[in-house]
Amino acid sequence: MMQGGKGDRDSFTSKFGVLAALAGSAIGLGNIWRFPYVVGQNGGGAFLLIYVIFIAAIGVPVMMSEFMIGRSARLNPVGAFKKNAPGTKWHLVGMLGVVSVFIIFAFYTVVAGWTLEYVVQSVRWILFPAKFGFESMNNDALTLFFSDHYDSFTQGIWRPIIWFVVMMCLTGYIVISGVKNGIEKYTKILMPIFLVLLLILVSRSISLEGGREGLVFLFKPDFTQIREAPFRIVLEALGQAFFSLSIGMGTLITYGSYIKRKENLAGTAVSVVAADTFVAILAGIAIFPAVFAFGIDPADGPDLVYKTLPVIFQNMAGGLIWAFLFFVLLCFAAITSTISMLEVIVAYFSEQLNMSRKKATILSMISAGFLGIICTVSPDVFGIFNASPDLMLPLGGFFIVVFIGWFFSGEKSKQELSSDGAFKIRYYRLFMFLVKFVAPLAIAFLFALGVYSKVINIFPSLG
Ligand code: TRP
Repeated sequence: MMQGGKGDRDSFTSKFGVLAALAGSAIGLGNIWRFPYVVGQNGGGAFLLIYVIFIAAIGVPVMMSEFMIGRSARLNPVGAFKKNAPGTKWHLVGMLGVVSVFIIFAFYTVVAGWTLEYVVQSVRWILFPAKFGFESMNNDALTLFFSDHYDSFTQGIWRPIIWFVVMMCLTGYIVISGVKNGIEKYTKILMPIFLVLLLILVSRSISLEGGREGLVFLFKPDFTQIREAPFRIVLEALGQAFFSLSIGMGTLITYGSYIKRKENLAGTAVSVVAADTFVAILAGIAIFPAVFAFGIDPADGPDLVYKTLPVIFQNMAGGLIWAFLFFVLLCFAAITSTISMLEVIVAYFSEQLNMSRKKATILSMISAGFLGIICTVSPDVFGIFNASPDLMLPLGGFFIVVFIGWFFSGEKSKQELSSDGAFKIRYYRLFMFLVKFVAPLAIAFLFALGVYSKVINIFPSLG
């Protein structure tokens, strides 16, 4: 997969390879780090309910549309629109995607770097507890290790930059050397282990005294908080849904272009969406009981998981070992996402601008590297980049569904959905109804209101 430069385009080797790569892209920091804190900030159960509705009614159709655009053209997002709609301005949607990828890739890789810090620190604490004033590695040591580490680390300059650069290089290395040999192989083993570990955390967390309240918070819809800022919150639910599914900026157009013609697109999309949502909800079930059991503020923000995970580990025998394992696997989950972003830029540079794969990768790394370093030194820039998916991804998703709903011929749609007649198309009418009407209207409406409410937040006099 993906090794070929110009001409000899590669594709995913097996059905499992497709699912592994797509689930690898979708499942990542968006599920473990972003989802719990966004849910926590926006009122819990009611937000989750809206989120799940968006996932099903908008997420699945957008994902299928991206696959259809990518696989029919077998090209990067810009090339795919050019090929499907020659002589029109549609390729600008692909361009918007490529630009969004730069921004999201940059800040995402910064956060991915944090996991490395935790991996390395937990090893140091396990191996050399004496250095930190402890006779042996125990849970008091764990408390000290985690307390304030997040703040002192993220407020530092050099360590976040170093880990960011390491993460960027790892991603670049994998993308240059081709994803098939490495990632497909490791994803197969590591993703299931990650799931098991997550389940262990869940079982520890829900048995904490006072943890039940966390489950109530997560699953019992209470709309009070949403009523206070409905437009902003609902747009954030949409943005989080897009972010978690990796849709709205052409990542899945690119991956879709590597899917073989015999693969079933609808089935693939539904499996990926189900797996991604399952993992996000599991992360919620791991985090919120502990949040409530230990009196942490659910609306704490981006450091929520970094504050909450330690207290779960502390309550487990051999806590630091669990912490180490968890961060290693989280780091891996993050890399399978960063490569899917870098792959978009690389596919664009190499196919549209005729660069070699290696040159394209290095150029993308350097340019995204600058953005990422600005992110690590400026919390404001980080905040803006981290908020950008809420606007950019729905915008991209809007054009993608409009394209499939209104500009892609019915005949081609049927060809893609049935994989040239190999599969019976189920729910064709429902799909068309969703991409023609429901998804575009809902996105446009939420986008307009969300932007309006953000603007009047900044300039209250306009309200
Ligand atoms: N979905 C990934 C996560 O949840 C992040 C990601 C990968 C992404 N590719 C993307 C987000 C494309 C938006 C667009 O961690």
